[in-house]
Amino acid sequence: MSFRFNFFMDENEAGDAGRSKQTASQGESQAETARKEKFCRKAAKEHDIPEDLDKILANKAVEAVSGLRYVKLSVVEMEGDDEEGIVSQSVSSHSDLIPGVYEGGLKIWECTFDLIDYISEAEIELTDKAVLDLGCGAGLLGITALKGKAGKVHFQDYNSTVIDKITLPNVAANCGNDDRKTSKPPSKRLKKAEPLPDMLTKCRFFSGEWSEVLQLLLSSSKPFPKYDIILSSETTYNPDYYSALHDTLAQLLEKHGRVYLASKAHYFGVGGGIYLFEKFAEERNVFRTSIVKVIDKGLQRCIMEMAFKHSS
Ligand SMILES: C[S@@+](CC[C@H](N)C(=O)[O-])C[C@H]1O[C@@H](n2cnc3c(N)ncnc32)[C@H](O)[C@@H]1O
Repeated sequence: MSFRFNFFMDENEAGDAGRSKQTASQGESQAETARKEKFCRKAAKEHDIPEDLDKILANKAVEAVSGLRYVKLSVVEMEGDDEEGIVSQSVSSHSDLIPGVYEGGLKIWECTFDLIDYISEAEIELTDKAVLDLGCGAGLLGITALKGKAGKVHFQDYNSTVIDKITLPNVAANCGNDDRKTSKPPSKRLKKAEPLPDMLTKCRFFSGEWSEVLQLLLSSSKPFPKYDIILSSETTYNPDYYSALHDTLAQLLEKHGRVYLASKAHYFGVGGGIYLFEKFAEERNVFRTSIVKVIDKGLQRCIMEMAFKHSS
């Protein structure tokens, strides 16, 4: 099968994702709804960074986009090593979103590139900042922060498979060792594990549902910083998640910090979108929001900035 993850999703595909979700939820039984609600509280965990980075990149094809490297994985490569079973479920349901099971992190969604562009256009200062890539998928936003000399970068995705098989390898592929820069699979000549590159020592990786990740961080004996900057792309599609998303932002953002959300104006079929989330946030009265960029090509896409109301 030639289907590969980590390709770009165009507007039609985004619409299809929404429609397949809608179809799947029609005529749903109460038991099915209860099952989904249970899944929606997917437990959180922190992922260890493997010492041997060459192992996580072994035999992987690495490509580049916007100056960032990412691993290209086929379904066959992924399926053999997917404890959550999200690859087969995504393929068999022809869907990029299976609520509470798989939340889309195997692909790179287009608003990621809008936010990468905005970070550069708006000259957002990243040096020494504590940054969270929330709903990271491939992790390109967090990698952009690392390249911008952020002091700490934490990555969160709903699915542990995404963190282990996509995010971590992508971060490793951008770590600067010459062997990791090649588009060919890394050579086998390195027998001994090398020390972790500096960039990776700044990183932590988490998977799980937002409220669960929040609890894990708040209750952890290992201190975590409140984040100066939270970056998030295509995470406002499902209004059912708005409360958890809003509370996570509110609890994890530093007092004078900024959130940058990149999102489509509307996700057909799923029902969410940036304006709906903006309205939700306004009603909660914790953040002030402002749409700082609108991209009007096909389906409208936006960048929204959020800051605490009480901050200056
Ligand atoms: C559509 S994907 C976008 C991935 C990536 N940010 C991009 O733009 O390519 C949405 C991401 O949000 C995260 N997400 C969505 N709903 C979530 C929830 N309820 N709890 C935790 N993470 C969630 C998932 O990790 C998923 O990867």
